[in-house]
Amino acid sequence: MIVLGLETSCDETAVGVVEDAGDAALRIRANRVASQLAEHAPYGGVVPEIAARAHLERIDDLVKGALEDAGVALSDMDGIAATCGPGLIGGVMVGAMTGKALAAVTGKPFIAVNHLEAHALTARLTHDVAFPYLLLLISGGHCQLLVVAGVADYRLLGTTIDDAVGECFDKGAKLLGLGYPGGPALERAAAGGDAKAFDLPRPLMGRPGCDFSFSGLKTAVRELAARNDTPPPAKAKDLVPPKDGTKSKLSLPPPQGGRDFVSDAAASLQAAIGDILADRTGNALAMLSEENQGVTALVTAGGVAANGAIRARLGEVAARHGLPLIAPPPALCTDNGAMVAWAGLERLRLGMSDGLDFAARPRWALDASAQKAGIGDQKG
Ligand code: KG4
Ligand code: ZN
Repeated sequence: MIVLGLETSCDETAVGVVEDAGDAALRIRANRVASQLAEHAPYGGVVPEIAARAHLERIDDLVKGALEDAGVALSDMDGIAATCGPGLIGGVMVGAMTGKALAAVTGKPFIAVNHLEAHALTARLTHDVAFPYLLLLISGGHCQLLVVAGVADYRLLGTTIDDAVGECFDKGAKLLGLGYPGGPALERAAAGGDAKAFDLPRPLMGRPGCDFSFSGLKTAVRELAARNDTPPPAKAKDLVPPKDGTKSKLSLPPPQGGRDFVSDAAASLQAAIGDILADRTGNALAMLSEENQGVTALVTAGGVAANGAIRARLGEVAARHGLPLIAPPPALCTDNGAMVAWAGLERLRLGMSDGLDFAARPRWALDASAQKAGIGDQKG
């Protein structure tokens, strides 16, 4: 079985081709991603209208290129999958309409993929992980703990009560002047910093439950970043002699601001986020073991799962519970077409497909009971 997958829900236009090969290393036949970073960078964030237009301009060439990479024709596909939500609706419509058009002309089944399900099943594309597993889904629009019991079978254990974790990375990076996109820039800056330099809050940590909160942390970073702009007040005791040893002039030491401040702040923020994620994930694993709900692994997915420090932290939590941590390679954690094709393939081989009247949707929860409650269905 071989499936084409289209992803256009945020700022990456992506097309992948995956095959049901026995060996996980051979499953991805093509995975083309056209990032829109340059278009959105001047605005410091994703502009939905610009994103939709950019998807429209690129999607046809990407489909052509992905088929060439895979060495297959459209007519060889067993199905055409496209992200149909949740996400920025203009972009989602571009991918959904393109997918439907390709399915209509080839007469192949169309599979409407939930973007969150695509992240949730990526670990099964790259590793042979069996259901059920605990998933920590951490992305630009999401922070959730879910039990993945099977394809289309999800149980939400906890979600963010305010901001998504990726948003916290992005906002933190912006406040520290690290630019856009924030997550990778913050990780790079943090590499040279001292994670203990600043004592940032860890909302909800140590409290029961599996929900997350990041807004207090974001506020603390705003206050910290503001400190960087203000040189410390001059005090007589702070005056130091010049380096050449002369005593004639005393001056202030170099300002607190600058590279070290930023990298220490970045490292402190990354550590706080890691602690929060580890604490809530630990609670979820403890809760599942109390319920005698066995899981095969701790799986992480979504853009933030590309972060090495976060992965290391989650590896410790998993090990404490005697479980492996399964994390897809970074390029498959962030949005891509192969994950959409794979979710389509997993559905198709269970006989699931959708009509060409399937409506693109900005909100779409994985856990149907959570959708009714209005939680957990934002962009992932
Ligand atoms: O899954 P994704 O590509 O798009 C959404 O579906 O949201 O996730 C994007 C998010 C952004 O917030 C980005 O800053 C974050 O993932 N991200 C990272 C890293 N790479 C991407 N956050 C921390 N460290 C990274 N290395
Ligand atoms: Zn995503």
